[in-house]
Amino acid sequence: MSTAAPGDLRTRLDTLIRHTPMGSRVADIGAGDGQLALALARRGAPLVIATELHDGAYSRLVHRLGGDGRVACRQGDGLACLGQDEVDVAVVAGMGEYTIGRIVSSGLVRAARLQRLVLQPMARTAYLRRLLSRIELPLTGEDLAWEGGRFYQVLIVEPGRPALSWDPERSPLGPALSHRQDEGARAWRREVKKVWRERLALTPEAKRQVLARMLAQVESLDPP
Ligand SMILES: C[S@@+](CC[C@H](N)C(=O)[O-])C[C@H]1O[C@@H](n2cnc3c(N)ncnc32)[C@H](O)[C@@H]1O
Repeated sequence: MSTAAPGDLRTRLDTLIRHTPMGSRVADIGAGDGQLALALARRGAPLVIATELHDGAYSRLVHRLGGDGRVACRQGDGLACLGQDEVDVAVVAGMGEYTIGRIVSSGLVRAARLQRLVLQPMARTAYLRRLLSRIELPLTGEDLAWEGGRFYQVLIVEPGRPALSWDPERSPLGPALSHRQDEGARAWRREVKKVWRERLALTPEAKRQVLARMLAQVESLDPP
C-alpha cells in the first residue's frame, strides 16, 4: 500500500492536535512516549497532564518528559488520576476500542464534565460508538487520519452538546464518516469494503478451518 495520504488526510498526531482546541487544558491519557503531550505544550496549552498506567511505561514517560516543566506526569488508571474540572479536554488515543470504552465508562462522572474527549482507537470503532450512545456521551464529530499506510478513525465527544443524529443500520461506518465525500474518506470506505468482501468470501468450511487452526495454535501454547 502506498504511504502517500489519500486526499489531504493528516497524520494521526496532527489530527489529534487539530481536534484539541487551542488554549484548552489537556490530559493525554495513556501518553506512551509523550509526543502528543509535548506537541500540545509547545503549542501553548496552559496545562498538559500526561498519564500512564503501569510502572515501566510511567517511568519511561517521566524520563522522557520529566525535565520539561510544561508537562505534568501522573500515574494512574484512565481518568481516575485527574482532579474534578482540572482539564477541559482528554485525549485517549492509540489503544483498542474496549480499553478506551472502559476508560471512558469507568470515569464517566469526570468524562461528562469535560468539554471534549478526543478518542482514537487503533482499529475497530463499532463497539465504542454503541457504548457512547448507551452511556449518553454525545458523539459530535468523526475524522480520519493516515499514517504508515493505514487509516485511523478519530471520534469526538462533547458532553452537553447534541449528538450527531445516527441510524446505525443506514450508516454503519458512523454518522459522519459513512457519508463524507472527500478523497480520504472515499479511500477509507474502499478499504473497509475490500476487507468486508474478503471476510464475506470465506465459506463456512474456510471459517471452520481458520478457527480450528487458531484453536490448535492456542492449545499448543498450553500443553496439558
Ligand atoms: C500504544 S500506546 C499509545 C500512546 C499514545 N497515546 C499514542 O497515541 O501514540 C497506549 C498506551 O496506553 C497506556 N494505557 C493502557 N491502558 C491505560 C489506562 N487504563 N490508563 C492509562 N494508560 C493506559 C499503555 O500503557 C500504553 O502506553
